[in-house]
Amino acid sequence: MINYNDFLSSAAGEMQESAIRRMGTVLAQSRDIISFAPGYPAAETFPWQEFTAITRDLLLGTDASTLQYGPTRGYKPLLQAIEGIMQARGAKTSNDRLLITTGSQQGLDLVARVMLDPGDVVLVELPTYTGAITAFRNVQARMVGVRQDADGVDLDALDETLLRVQAEGRRVRMLYVVPNFQNPTGLLIGREKRTRLLEWADRRNVMLVEDDPYRELYFEDSTSEADVRPIRADDESGRVVYLSSFSKTLAPGFRVAWIDAPPPLAAKFELAKQAADLCTGALDQRVVYECCHRGILARQLPILRHHYQAKRDVMTEALAREFGGEMSWPAPRGGFFLWATLPPQIDGEAMIARAAANGVIYVAGEAFFVNGAGQNIIRLSFSAPSHEKIRDGVARLAATVREELAATSSAVAP
Ligand SMILES: Cc1ncc(COP(=O)(O)O)c(C=O)c1O
Repeated sequence: MINYNDFLSSAAGEMQESAIRRMGTVLAQSRDIISFAPGYPAAETFPWQEFTAITRDLLLGTDASTLQYGPTRGYKPLLQAIEGIMQARGAKTSNDRLLITTGSQQGLDLVARVMLDPGDVVLVELPTYTGAITAFRNVQARMVGVRQDADGVDLDALDETLLRVQAEGRRVRMLYVVPNFQNPTGLLIGREKRTRLLEWADRRNVMLVEDDPYRELYFEDSTSEADVRPIRADDESGRVVYLSSFSKTLAPGFRVAWIDAPPPLAAKFELAKQAADLCTGALDQRVVYECCHRGILARQLPILRHHYQAKRDVMTEALAREFGGEMSWPAPRGGFFLWATLPPQIDGEAMIARAAANGVIYVAGEAFFVNGAGQNIIRLSFSAPSHEKIRDGVARLAATVREELAATSSAVAP
């Protein structure tokens, strides 16, 4: 018998399955489960007819480059379209700063490979996106968490943490943030705080990694374009590595996203990407480009904002009806997620088995905390299920919480 652990790199030895993927396995085992677990876009919003027309045109065989290897940086017309998107977000960019990636997840992986050595410290929010945790952990970087306020990362705690970690002789390379409708909390970093973060990064010589896949999905009842202005838009000194994606606005299956970074870093990302996959799928990039060029993306955005806002309303109404005051959450102003705090005696991870038996799943909060916190918090995605499923799922969740409360109180009774 070969012991394959003897053949693993030390980095691979530390790799762990993500909690969200694990939920996917639970889901695959049962058809009747309503899933609030993965942050999937709603498939009924995909512009299927337009995708069909575009792919038909692209696959006529008149342009062989559609199915060829392409430049690592990406398909030129798409890069130009992205320059326009960045401009519309307030950030002037240029082609020596841009790189198309196979999803923003690959962007995070490239950032980790290019910018982190084993033992380097990445500051992250408490909580933060699990995919970033995975990417940073895979290169044996260490994450140190910083408390959040209602308007994002707490600046005093941030500076204290940085100084403490540096005093321990460790090197802090970057702060990773998701300023718009953070996965998992749905929170926005406040406008003034964005400016102060840039000043802080400059003063302390730390890079900011700004991950921004949800920016377009702001809910117009409470949030405007000005609230979602990227930190990158005001970065005059080259402190920000910015990532964004077409996954939430067109479809995640295309795996088309981008990094905008200072040119010397962008050049290294290109080299790292060459080793990973040579280039992002040519057909995917063409389809995404055509969606930009034919105005399909622009048409989709208001539709998506309304779609997800309506689902947010259905979920918050159902939660308020089913739970009364027993559960609390910051009202999401955009994005896919609702971050719900349960009664303190409930452990979200321990309750999953009961929830799954009752036909509903979610992601337990602990997965998003690098300090082991979050026991009584859960992330609920309202993006994919129908209104009816959201209402049903919340009712199942409420029944689960009631059963769990009864079980925990009888467990502590003498
Ligand atoms: C904050 C954040 N970053 C990155 C990603 C990865 O997106 P992509 O599909 O572009 O790889 C996600 C996906 O859920 C996300 O929530």
